[in-house]
Amino acid sequence: MRNDEFDIVEQMVKVDADKRFGPKVTDHFHNPRNYGKPETYDCSTYVTGMCGDTVGFFITVNGDRIERVGYETDGCGPTVACASVLSDMAEGKTLSEVAAMKPQDLLDELGTDLPVENSHCADLAVNALKAALEKLKV
Ligand code: FES
Repeated sequence: MRNDEFDIVEQMVKVDADKRFGPKVTDHFHNPRNYGKPETYDCSTYVTGMCGDTVGFFITVNGDRIERVGYETDGCGPTVACASVLSDMAEGKTLSEVAAMKPQDLLDELGTDLPVENSHCADLAVNALKAALEKLKV
C-alpha cells in the first residue's frame, strides 16, 4: 500500500473511532498523557478488571495533594484514554477530592458515555486510582 493510501485508510479508521468513542477518547488513546511508571512515587497498585485487563497507577503526593500520576495498562484503547484523562483530572486535587471521584465524573470529562461493552473501562481506571491511594494508608 502506498503512503497516501495508508494515510486515507488511517483517517477513515480515526473518523470511525471518533464516532464510536468520541474525539477525546481517540485523542487520549493516540496521545496518552502521563503514561508510564515514574522512577519514584509514594504509592501504587495494579487492578485487574472483569475483562482481564489490568491498570496500574503510580502516585506522588505532597501533603494531602496529588502532585503526579503515572500509569500503565495492557487494556483496550478506551482504558488507555480513561487512565490518561483521569491522571490529568487527579493531579492537583486533594486526596479526599479523588476519593470522592466516581466513574461518571470521568465519563463527563471524556464528554461521552462509552459503548456499553466498554463502560467497565471507566470503572477500572477509577477503581485502580483509588486502590493505589489506599496504599498510602498501609
Ligand atoms: Fe478491558 Fe477496556 S478494560 S476492555
